[in-house]
Amino acid sequence: MTTTNATPTTTSSPEAITDEVRARYADAALAVLGRGDTQADASVGCCSPSVMTDPADPAWGQLLYDATDRAALPDAAVLASLGCGNPTAVAELRPGEVVLDLGSGGGIDVLLSASRVGPTGFAYGLDMTDEMLELARRNVAEAGATNVEFRKGRIESIPLGDASVDVVISNCVINLSTDKAAVLGEIARVLRPGGRIGISDVVADDALSPDDRAERGSFVGCIAGALSFAEYRAGLEAVGLGEISITPTHSVGGGLHGAIVKATKPVNWTLADIRPVDLPKPSSSGLLPLLAGGGGCCGDGCGCS
Ligand SMILES: C[S@@+](CC[C@H](N)C(=O)[O-])C[C@H]1O[C@@H](n2cnc3c(N)ncnc32)[C@H](O)[C@@H]1O
Repeated sequence: MTTTNATPTTTSSPEAITDEVRARYADAALAVLGRGDTQADASVGCCSPSVMTDPADPAWGQLLYDATDRAALPDAAVLASLGCGNPTAVAELRPGEVVLDLGSGGGIDVLLSASRVGPTGFAYGLDMTDEMLELARRNVAEAGATNVEFRKGRIESIPLGDASVDVVISNCVINLSTDKAAVLGEIARVLRPGGRIGISDVVADDALSPDDRAERGSFVGCIAGALSFAEYRAGLEAVGLGEISITPTHSVGGGLHGAIVKATKPVNWTLADIRPVDLPKPSSSGLLPLLAGGGGCCGDGCGCS
């Protein structure tokens, strides 16, 4: 396994970390938009850790989608795919449903969702990065999808009403949040009673402490901020979700996995069902490797697209 010995460390505030995440994904969007400053931009910002070294590794990004899905999408949406799974494939979306994609990036999962829920359904994308929103809106225009809207905002404070969506999906984003308890609470709030989640994320073995995770990869590369299986489950239980399953789908190295996270919102759920839960925050692990080594998101020259 490649390590990140040369990785800069930081004790930055959560806001500074979020700013760094935003900057990285802005660079990734600009590269796809053709406005990146340098060759390196094409590999900056993708959600691939320094432990990955093979550009063709099917564990990340566009190769996780089947050829039929990829062929139906604008090239730029596929190129900007920075996820670690294919949540639309596991969420079992049905015609007429309202879907919300947290951290929608270049819009690949929003476009796939829009097609699956059809003209009587709707797909929202939420992202905090202006450049990603620009790319996603361009991709939607190119695809001609009309049952889609992208909103700017933070997944810790979702700009949608209570009980307004049937399905929350997300692809390799929750690990990037500096306040995962808030994200999970917001997911529970916006889901309709009986609603469900189908989330792809990086998840750590329970034996790995937050410091162990931080040793294995950067925060912006989706490794240092990964929850363990037990923490993810505790977080979902604390916000009152049920029927929880967290299923590893592939190893991304060093005891970290791409995983599918599923859960449902009980029909009798109320806001009072949200309990406080102590999930790791970046500052709790001391010195944090914020940036991947070598100046690119993947460190050590691995490709991401
Ligand atoms: C690894 S990329 C994944 C993008 C997309 N889901 C995909 O599969 O291609 C992470 C995305 O989440 C966004 N993001 C990260 N943290 C966020 C937060 N706290 N609130 C809103 N968006 C966030 C970034 O701007 C970026 O577009």
